[in-house]
Amino acid sequence: MSRITLPASSRTIKDDRDYGLPPRQRRLEAGQSVFINGGSTAVGSFAIQLAKAKGAHVAVSASGKNEEYVRNLGADEFFDYTKAPLHEQLIAANPNPKYHAFFEAVGTADPALFVESDRYLKFLWKVLLQPSWLGGTKRTWKLIFVVPTKKDLEAFAKLVEEGKVKPLIDSVFSFEDTLKAYERIKTGRATGKVVVKVDPTAE
Ligand SMILES: NC(=O)c1ccc[n+]([C@@H]2O[C@H](COP(=O)([O-])OP(=O)(O)OC[C@H]3O[C@@H](n4cnc5c(N)ncnc54)[C@H](OP(=O)(O)O)[C@@H]3O)[C@@H](O)[C@H]2O)c1
Repeated sequence: MSRITLPASSRTIKDDRDYGLPPRQRRLEAGQSVFINGGSTAVGSFAIQLAKAKGAHVAVSASGKNEEYVRNLGADEFFDYTKAPLHEQLIAANPNPKYHAFFEAVGTADPALFVESDRYLKFLWKVLLQPSWLGGTKRTWKLIFVVPTKKDLEAFAKLVEEGKVKPLIDSVFSFEDTLKAYERIKTGRATGKVVVKVDPTAE
């Protein structure tokens, strides 16, 4: 079952190139730090584990009830997004050094997080893109599209075999209950993947 959940979310961030790092520094390196917005989302839970497997320092946002969940995945720093606006919390935390990368894994982008990002995100290279709908951030912003490849999935399978990445399953539904599975996803509260078993005998 876990293997089924891997391709869907993990390929969204198929490797560390996808932390939005610039072309000249495509890889998140050991010792660098990344802030992952939404560590308890299906995508975020892979992002935490991949960054940790890389040896990075990982800061994460989630609601308080999911702190243990994201810490068990390897999060070093935790910010509860329900307590105060995240950009205010990050400015108050004054990370030193500032984060090398910021990975958006919620999707409902709060413009303030990006507009204020020069206060907690390192300036790595010339700003290429300042999306006006985000208020014109002073840091580069990159939308990620991933084309899955056999090579990427094999690399993921290896990380899973080595125990460095765990696929997380929120819930499992039978094929007849597919609509209930969608309802669970639409709550926006799932932690890990919601699985629909097409073959009832699948393990
Ligand atoms: N899953 C995929 O295969 C996939 C593929 C491509 C793109 N994406 C994109 O990736 C993003 C995440 O999708 P997903 O499927 O991974 O999400 P998801 O698993 O459905 O997200 C649910 C989680 O989001 C957390 N959450 C809700 N609002 C939050 C906020 N404001 N800040 C931090 N955490 C929050 C909830 O935790 P609380 O209950 O604690 O709030 C819950 O654990 C979306 O933009 C989606 O379109 C996903």
